[in-house]
Amino acid sequence: MPVIGLGTWKSPAGKVGAAVEYALVEAGYRHIDGAYIYHNEKEVGQGLAKAFTSGRVKREEAFITSKLWTNFFAKSRVELACKNTLSDLGLEYLDLYLMHWGIATPPESGDDLLDEQGVLQLAPVSVREVWEEMEKLVASGLVRAIGVANFTAPMLIDLLTYAKIKPAVNQIELHPYNQQSTLIDFCNYKGIAVTAYSPLGSPGNSSGKPVLLQDETIDKIAQSHGKTSAQILIRWATQRETIVIPKSTTPERIKENIDVFDFELSKKEMALIAALDRRYRYVDPAEWWGFPYFD
Ligand code: A2P
Repeated sequence: MPVIGLGTWKSPAGKVGAAVEYALVEAGYRHIDGAYIYHNEKEVGQGLAKAFTSGRVKREEAFITSKLWTNFFAKSRVELACKNTLSDLGLEYLDLYLMHWGIATPPESGDDLLDEQGVLQLAPVSVREVWEEMEKLVASGLVRAIGVANFTAPMLIDLLTYAKIKPAVNQIELHPYNQQSTLIDFCNYKGIAVTAYSPLGSPGNSSGKPVLLQDETIDKIAQSHGKTSAQILIRWATQRETIVIPKSTTPERIKENIDVFDFELSKKEMALIAALDRRYRYVDPAEWWGFPYFD
């Protein structure tokens, strides 16, 4: 699995296709991370098609991830959702398919459906039921690997009690303000790779929140290496041996974000960054689902 992938959350229509094509053909990415709920998979698919027909990148050289949304968490809907995503992306198989969260919502709820008290409506479907359907997708060849996103240690422990195929990946929010080192250690111990989302602190989605890209410590380290703060954050993620998926639709930034293999952060710099942890989540469902998912 290539350690740096292009994220596509919040990548708007009209831009994301070109971003995907540019990342693959011009910037050297071989990993694209998407999801059904980003509502842009058709255009991601157009970008993939252009990249693959350019002759510069072959399908089998690229690692493509998508995610099953929570309102498809039902025995009868998992394969359907996967096939819809494959059709939108114009692919015959996914390299990795993730359960997007560890909770199920009703089929008719679309993105999210809150009750009159502002709490997300849930569906009576266990993770186990969904995981067993995910395993069937591997058997049928629609996906090469399966995993989860936003899973906590107890959720993983439960899943591992019955999984015939253990999750290849847990994709979680990781950056210097939310380092989750013990969860990473636990995943490593169980042989589960960890992917870092919102590695730059999700600046396009975070008005009124701390701006990680302007952190003084990160900025000083960046200056000493002649690199940008974004490059320091991405390099830091790779040195922690996590996979990292910075999102951008700006060609110069797409290139910049993968240009992190010609320098190394020292032990001292890694320690300075370790000290920045404040368990701060930019992506906290308590804000929009009305219940404490991570508490
Ligand atoms: P844009 O897509 O307009 O280039 P995260 O991956 O943490 O969610 O961050 C994504 C956000 O960070 C997007 O708003 C993206 O903007 C911005 N971004 C991506 N790369 C860089 C960079 N190298 N420097 C500054 N901002 C960046």
